[in-house]
Amino acid sequence: MTYRIAELKEYISREALQQRVAELGAQISRDYAGQDLVLVAVLKGSVVFLSDLMRYITVPHSVDFMATSSYGNSTESSGVVRIVKDLSMSITGRNVLIVEDIIDTGHTLHYLLRILNERGPSAIHVVTLLDKKERREVAIEVDYVGFEIPNAFVVGYGLDFNEYYRNLPAIFVPKEGFFQGETD
Ligand code: IMP
Repeated sequence: MTYRIAELKEYISREALQQRVAELGAQISRDYAGQDLVLVAVLKGSVVFLSDLMRYITVPHSVDFMATSSYGNSTESSGVVRIVKDLSMSITGRNVLIVEDIIDTGHTLHYLLRILNERGPSAIHVVTLLDKKERREVAIEVDYVGFEIPNAFVVGYGLDFNEYYRNLPAIFVPKEGFFQGETD
């Protein structure tokens, strides 16, 4: 398989991502000054965002991971979510900040908020790099948003198509028909 980068169009540049992630890190650092904090990142898409974001957060914090899977194909969320990997530590009494790569229909986050709230955290807030607000099917509150984007499938900076393209340093959109015709 080869990456046909020529058939992807850059949508958010590496520089714009870094600048916005730095701003989010500064804002989160101000908001959580003097408080305990645990970042809960949702695998796998948010690892690149998390690794940049945590270096811009100046308050002491721990990091933990969860993995969920939604039944359905790779570009459409079915709304049915399950936990594939759970947290390794307790969040009871702690300030949790969920780190998401992208919020689309909102089903994944809605489910996560429900099960994490049952564990008695002191508070749960959410940061997402990308928000496809117009696609929302369930109402959820998002505290920090990197970029609001329209309804387009994007890859790069952690986001995949069939597990590829996560390593691209910027966010890309496919040119017409790219994913449909991709066989090599
Ligand atoms: P939701 O449950 O519909 O909000 O879906 C959220 C998940 O769908 C994200 O964490 C991604 O894994 C995936 N997803 C949604 N839109 C995109 C996209 O444009 N590119 C890559 N993955 C996406």
